Amino acid sequence: MRRKLVVGNWKMNGNRLTNTELLAGVEEAGPYTADVAVCAPFPYLSEVALSLQAKRIGWGAQDCSAHESGAYTGEVSAEMLAEFGCRFVIVGHSERRAYHAESDQLVADKAKIALKHNLTPIVCVGETLAEREANQTDAIVKRQMSAVIHTLGHCISQIVVAYEPVWAIGTGLTATPEQAQAVHALLRVQLHAATPKSDQMQILYGGSVKPDNAAALFSQPDIDGGLIGGASLKAADFVAICRAAR
Ligand code: 13P
Repeated sequence: MRRKLVVGNWKMNGNRLTNTELLAGVEEAGPYTADVAVCAPFPYLSEVALSLQAKRIGWGAQDCSAHESGAYTGEVSAEMLAEFGCRFVIVGHSERRAYHAESDQLVADKAKIALKHNLTPIVCVGETLAEREANQTDAIVKRQMSAVIHTLGHCISQIVVAYEPVWAIGTGLTATPEQAQAVHALLRVQLHAATPKSDQMQILYGGSVKPDNAAALFSQPDIDGGLIGGASLKAADFVAICRAAR
């Protein structure tokens, strides 16, 4: 039986005051049946770590460098994230693929260095609306996943996958539970060919998950929780979504 996981992706939102209030609200409403974590902007990681230390909520970052260290101005290494107690790092979010031209291989390299520093990479895959309408969804997510499988080898079982259809992110359009389940099942079959542990791997859904649609999504057999954007910024909404994962 896989445990459910709900991760808040704050993106480039929040400030010290709202972060403190948000974390207090999420913490007080716990404990949760599911594992819960938040991925905060880099500057807030030390304060998030202090707030959540010894609590049951994990934390992580939203990106890391593919390089170990050195002359890479503006980048943050996986080793630094580990030093701040991060358990997770999101890699390959569609916003990074789109706005920072991250390739499948770069995403795979980031996942690899994250694992090296004992972080769990949450690897995002997903198709655009144009790709879905052209019936390319399966081919796109398989191509994105296959770069990571190829680069990580048997370590692939240590990652978390997030299926985030680009057309559902921040748009209020959610994939139906059936649409999401179909892609999750496809990903699990692909992972199965790469590792005997595919049944234990968590595959999260992300894209306009809200309190009123979370339970239906999370009840699908291959949906093991969610990666939550906008709704993770409001304590009441995030708490309701965490509670829907059981
Ligand atoms: P929304 O929940 O705001 O659609 O964002 C999803 C997402 O991108 C999480 O990484």
